[in-house]
Amino acid sequence: MQTEEKYIDEGRQGEALITLPTGNATKKLFLESYGCQMNFSDSEIVASILNDEGYQTTTKVEEADLILLNTCSIRDKAEQTVRKRLGALNSIKKQNPNLKIGVLGCMAERLKHKFLEEEHLVDLVVGPDAYRDLPNLLNESEEGRGAINVQLSKEETYAEISPVRLGGNGVTAFVTITRGCDNMCTFCVVPFTRGRERSRDPHSIMNECKDLAERGYKEITLLGQNVDSYLWYGGGPKKDFKNATAIQQATAVDFGQLLDMVATQLPNVRLRFSTSNPQDMQEDVLQVMAKHANICKYIHLPVQSGSTTVLERMNRQHTREEYFELIDKIRKIIPDCALSHDMIAGFCGETEEEHQDTLSLMEHVRYDFGYMFAYSERPGTPAHKKMPDDVPNEDKKRRLQEIIDLQRSHSAERMKSYVGKVHEILIEGNSKRDANFWYGRNSQNAVLVFPKVEGTAIGDFVHVRANSCTTATLIGEMIN
Ligand code: SAH
Ligand code: F3S
Repeated sequence: MQTEEKYIDEGRQGEALITLPTGNATKKLFLESYGCQMNFSDSEIVASILNDEGYQTTTKVEEADLILLNTCSIRDKAEQTVRKRLGALNSIKKQNPNLKIGVLGCMAERLKHKFLEEEHLVDLVVGPDAYRDLPNLLNESEEGRGAINVQLSKEETYAEISPVRLGGNGVTAFVTITRGCDNMCTFCVVPFTRGRERSRDPHSIMNECKDLAERGYKEITLLGQNVDSYLWYGGGPKKDFKNATAIQQATAVDFGQLLDMVATQLPNVRLRFSTSNPQDMQEDVLQVMAKHANICKYIHLPVQSGSTTVLERMNRQHTREEYFELIDKIRKIIPDCALSHDMIAGFCGETEEEHQDTLSLMEHVRYDFGYMFAYSERPGTPAHKKMPDDVPNEDKKRRLQEIIDLQRSHSAERMKSYVGKVHEILIEGNSKRDANFWYGRNSQNAVLVFPKVEGTAIGDFVHVRANSCTTATLIGEMIN
């Protein structure tokens, strides 16, 4: 049976991605990334910066001169995973005293100097906005000092740094369009670890997308913590837009315009984007999606809870009813649009009734996929400061399980509705279970596996009839 369980995701864990060696590289970098897609994309920027310093990446930790872990702080479990990994790296460091170990990303930003004090084998601590400083920091640490830069920036977007594409399939890529987040959801550590929201120059986004297309990439995902809030006006953060000049305001580019521009200029490239925030998603974006065949009909629209009172405590800036209105609008403008969610079980003060509201919201929307989590208190967040984490663990776990079970039944239902239909699939690689099968996704992001046919290759768009399904995967055959 072919299955590619993908609709429940605990975040990617510790993948070291290799790229081809480049001419003048003399030193070896082992770069391992954890957590969200943004971290994986940032690692490609880090690899690019260090490539200029003579480093090539390796997947063999034993041969590394430099080990970097790009870390995640979103839940306690994510941090524990990194701590364990550092423990295991200790023995390698003992055998090779010249080896340098650095921590990048959200944990570096959250723990700052504490990291150097707590984890003695760490030589470098570098926050998400300080990667340009890596060459200096490496020099500093050569001199035997713990090197640290966790300065957050209001402007840094690494716009002109061309990422080294790591470990990809050569056909799907991510392009960062915004960094940071200003939403201040009370449970979330991201605004503290990744700083203020800022948008990247649309010309540099367009150039990167065009370059990918020229190199044979067939699908691009525009990436940001909150893509709908993208706004470029040639100035700094979005919140300063009101102080921008009249010309800046008149020529500003928002997310709908950016999406329209990329879709128009690259008609043969499939586009996706993530993540959308219900409070910021505007109708014009839906209209742009409906207008362009090359924009995938799929929106990841985290809601976190189905209860208006919980949403209020989470500072989510919309009610249950407003969310339903948005869903209705999506269904009207893009009838075949797939939807997925992020959901948190057992947030501070969540009652059984509020949890039931989450289940009933899910019943109403019937999402295609979901990413579901038990609430994990994060130090320094508004929830940690102001609200007790008072839902007992067993209730959190049970509620999470109920949410997962319900999602599983909805996903299965959605999969069944695709059976018997023909789907346009981009071949992305081999099926994990059987190398005689291709793996790809349809526009709605549903996974389809099907037997290879001679003459087909990774990067081809093909038509596949779905004949059967599991809860998370369609199984089909190519048609001419
Ligand atoms: N806007 C971001 C969200 C990043 S965090 C994006 O680009 O996807 C991803 C998800 O983790 C959130 O939507 C939320 O469901 C979950 N999450 C965040 N903080 C959490 C916490 N303290 N406990 C449990 N889950 C959390
Ligand atoms: Fe976090 Fe809310 Fe931003 S979940 S990343 S603060 S939209």
